[in-house]
Amino acid sequence: MNISVNVEQNTFHLYNNEISYIMTVLPNGQMGQLYFGRRVHDREDYSYLLEMRSRPMSSCVFDTDKSFSMEHIRQEYAVFGTTDYRIPAMEILQKNGSRISEFLFHDYRIENGKPKLPGLPATYTEDENEAQTLIVGLEDPLTQIRLELFYTIFEKGGVIARSARFINNGVEDVHLTTAMSLCMDLPDSDYDWIQFSGAWARERYPKARHLEQGIQSVGSMRGHSSHNHNPFVILKRPTADEFQGEAIGFSLIYSGNFLAQAEVDAYDTTRVLMGIHPAGFDWKLSAGTSFQTPEAVMVYTDQGLNCLSQTFHRLYQKRLARGYWRDRERPILINNWEATYFDFNEEKLLQIAGKAKDCGVELFVLDDGWFGKRNSEHAGLGDWFANPDKLPEGITGLAEKIEKMGMMFGLWFEPEMVNEDSDLYREHPDWILRTPERKASHGRFQYVLDFSRKEVVDRIYEMMAKLLSKAKISYVKWDMNRSITECYSTALPADRQGEVYHRYILGVYDLYERLTNRFPKVLFESCASGGGRFDPGLLYYAPQGWTSDDTDAVERLKIQYGTSYCYPISCMGSHVSVTPNHQLNRCTPLATRANVAYFGTFGYELDLNRLTVEEQEEVKEQIRFMKKYRRLIQFGTFYRLQSPFENNVAGWMVVSKDKKEAIAGRYKILNGANQPFERMYLQGLDADIQYRINEKDIRYGDELMNCGLITTDASAGESAPGEKMSYDFESKLYMIKAEE
Ligand code: DGJ
Repeated sequence: MNISVNVEQNTFHLYNNEISYIMTVLPNGQMGQLYFGRRVHDREDYSYLLEMRSRPMSSCVFDTDKSFSMEHIRQEYAVFGTTDYRIPAMEILQKNGSRISEFLFHDYRIENGKPKLPGLPATYTEDENEAQTLIVGLEDPLTQIRLELFYTIFEKGGVIARSARFINNGVEDVHLTTAMSLCMDLPDSDYDWIQFSGAWARERYPKARHLEQGIQSVGSMRGHSSHNHNPFVILKRPTADEFQGEAIGFSLIYSGNFLAQAEVDAYDTTRVLMGIHPAGFDWKLSAGTSFQTPEAVMVYTDQGLNCLSQTFHRLYQKRLARGYWRDRERPILINNWEATYFDFNEEKLLQIAGKAKDCGVELFVLDDGWFGKRNSEHAGLGDWFANPDKLPEGITGLAEKIEKMGMMFGLWFEPEMVNEDSDLYREHPDWILRTPERKASHGRFQYVLDFSRKEVVDRIYEMMAKLLSKAKISYVKWDMNRSITECYSTALPADRQGEVYHRYILGVYDLYERLTNRFPKVLFESCASGGGRFDPGLLYYAPQGWTSDDTDAVERLKIQYGTSYCYPISCMGSHVSVTPNHQLNRCTPLATRANVAYFGTFGYELDLNRLTVEEQEEVKEQIRFMKKYRRLIQFGTFYRLQSPFENNVAGWMVVSKDKKEAIAGRYKILNGANQPFERMYLQGLDADIQYRINEKDIRYGDELMNCGLITTDASAGESAPGEKMSYDFESKLYMIKAEE
């Protein structure tokens, strides 16, 4: 890995074994983009990559030159209004009403490792040799605002992490109305755009279309990254697929309003922008202050989407997630939500916990309903103390009993919310986000606390910290069940209201940071009505997240498959629940529910007492299995093999680092009669190793990858006498072990 600087040409080349990123100072002093892609040789001069020609209707920068127009030049962090007409990376509203800026190259510095982003989650290094960071300093001579562009190249993988920092060294206050994390101009538009979209209970479905002239974008203005769109997009060549070809992934490490956009101009160049959504964003950058954007991560590969995902998995698992649990196998948990909803008391909980312990579960999680007057959605949020009617010995007493049983105890919170019917709201009705003299809309009968205010965050911190220090709590599920409306903070002046959405998220990060620092061994799981805030920002604090409220195994195939494009298996909360399933009323076999949930953190969302004795035995076996294989599953290399979005089957697998062990999961959606023969082509094995499959057949790695694993079941042709028929939602795991 290296950052090479040609001072005469003012050119910067960041490269490692896989990628090159090249940029230059343009003749007008602004920064131009030359190349991002597969590694190329380092050389003195790349100026030939800067193509310029005069074009009709261009507006030009230099008096005697018709060829230099920013409209036709690929840039690093574009502005609008000085000959470029595309959507810009930044906009600064100045005192005289002008929104024109001109940031000229001023200086650069290179740091080993990677500087922290104050108050924001970001990728990090553990030792200085893992990455290098180039910081390009630009200045606008008129406003005297300094802009620092951060580029980190990691030693391994095709990764570039980017962010921008604005420093107002001038004398006048200005308003930052757009400040994207990343602006990437690509030389052509022959890409398929893939976004990860959906809604509650069907999050992160990949949706693809070819880029065309004009703008394609996704984003969120809900105050959280949202179920509807994820802050992650891929541009892939039309011929690229899971196993080969060129693709670039763009991921934003942020949990609030975001925009991810690709603009194809009239000449088929593509500008990708990613960052805080500019709509409603207005940050007053007073003289003498600075503003740091969130970080965006770009990953390039020419080896297909599985490789792209694996690069994100490694980076996010090892250098974004942090703390005690980062590298640890995740405890197998039982959560009482779908078992009881709000209707429980201590006795009922202990019964659920007792049976779970019997079956081998390691962590009991008490979900919503344990606090204040929380017997329904209408009351209690904000009052983080136990309801004595349900829990006479409080959380401390219950936690102790669970610990005595030999399990860890976990607790649900929804720290950012308050119900009108709560002591906290009665005491501080002014603490919610609400526009003066306008109606405050509710979501699930609750209001959003103004986390842009330190005193609000302090108060919630005190309540949570008190419980976490008094009771034996090993796990926290941090939920968030509504989007923001009427966003306004009474603590901020009129000209700072455009800061509230971002300050809110900074408040969330601050609370997470304080709690995770003070209670470093507590495992945090993020949640927002399932997957409404399943983003890299929260991974920095909570190494796992509740992937979706949809616990149906067939639906989960799609959700987990889509989620895996960016996020590692170790962060996907996935549980076995009852049938008929509570979201879809569908019945799937217990084995299939587990076969899907294994590919995640694994747990149960039901009362095991209500299962038959045979089913309980099956659960015991599932737990034994997961304990044995969770290291391989959660920390192995994950491959998508067959997409549930395209087929009546789904398939995926994990492979150990030394390639001696692998597990493949294959899932049939609907059964059929007289079906074709079927194969699944495995990936990532050692071609020359002989593997034993499910303790029976022996095959070379190259056979399994090239001839394929035969997955034909009894639905093919006519069933043989005595053969067990296949059925809907059937699934099978293939245990693949190298022969000694
Ligand atoms: C939404 C979460 O996703 C569920 O798992 C559960 O915790 C409920 N909230 C509780 O209100």
